Amino acid sequence: MGRPRVLSGVQPTGALHLGNWLGAIRNWVDLQNDHDTFFCVVDLHAVTVPHDPQRLAHDTLTTAALYLACGLDPEKSTVFVQSQVAAHSELCWLLNCITPLNWLERMIQFKEKALKQGDNVSVGLLDYPVLMAADILLYDADLVPVGEDQKQHLELARDIAQQRINARFGSEETPVLKVPKPMILKEGARVMSLTDGRSKMSKSDPNEGSRITLLDPPELITKKIKKAKTDPERGLEFGNPDRPETDNLLGLYALLSGKGREAAAQECADMGWGQFKPLLAEATVAALEPIQQRYKAFMDDRSQLEAVLRNGRERASAVAEANVQRVRRSMGFLSPS
Ligand code: TYM
Repeated sequence: MGRPRVLSGVQPTGALHLGNWLGAIRNWVDLQNDHDTFFCVVDLHAVTVPHDPQRLAHDTLTTAALYLACGLDPEKSTVFVQSQVAAHSELCWLLNCITPLNWLERMIQFKEKALKQGDNVSVGLLDYPVLMAADILLYDADLVPVGEDQKQHLELARDIAQQRINARFGSEETPVLKVPKPMILKEGARVMSLTDGRSKMSKSDPNEGSRITLLDPPELITKKIKKAKTDPERGLEFGNPDRPETDNLLGLYALLSGKGREAAAQECADMGWGQFKPLLAEATVAALEPIQQRYKAFMDDRSQLEAVLRNGRERASAVAEANVQRVRRSMGFLSPS
């Protein structure tokens, strides 16, 4: 038996934020040492809402650079761009034809995003989770490391593989597709907005002060944290449902300082906000500084970054092509002679 296979991805829509890093990418970096890891920049997902064609290629490249800056090692992980491996779109189509419409209409993220789009909801937005299922199933992934908000999409991918493909086109002894498992961290899986502790930190929040991006300069980080919503009470604590902002900011401090929850809670138990916020800002700046330095180095040497993506595309295509062929065969398509 080989090492368990891992696949995950992030959309190249604007700079990645602390939630993307702490909820997902941080975990990818740990997994690459003892797993067979595939990480893609999911640019096809980024066009499910109106996008700027002038920015897409640049944002795709910068997202890949951030993957590497966060610690993905191209010697250990296959890093690639989703749209450059055509099998993702092909498998998506095959899965579209066997996925019931009402499974997609139930998706919480679709409902939330559709609400924001008004009359302009694309078929692609509804289909987003099927494309995500294709990304995962195409690589026979065992594990999919994601933040909490992707749990429902992962369940859908499992249902499509099990109930729609394997049950209809495979047999118990020879399933067509591997059924993947979500991998959600205990800490960091749900980083909340700086301006509202009850809603998650998100790239699409129009208020930039609600998130810290991995490329924010130190002064901006300090300013955003200074303005972050607090409550009138003194002392920071975990688990008080009436103090979601406290829970979130203390959680960030525990992770970003590397101290862990227990030590962070002890240290900050009697602190006022005026003392805590500079501490959190300092820990955030220090945690992001090495990422920002490595990011700059990758962006200054595009040729290295492009070589990583070229290589990744070749390695990913080899796996993806073989697997989509297997699905095509199982569904009864005529093979090319
Ligand atoms: P995206 O770009 O919205 O998010 C990328 C990853 O970041 C996690 N995340 C968070 N984690 C903690 N706190 C937050 N506030 C927060 N916000 C985002 C997400 O859970 C995700 O892991 N649909 C996927 C992209 C995708 C994908 C895939 C993932 C496409 N195909 C295949 C895994 C496997 C998404 O949410 O992207």
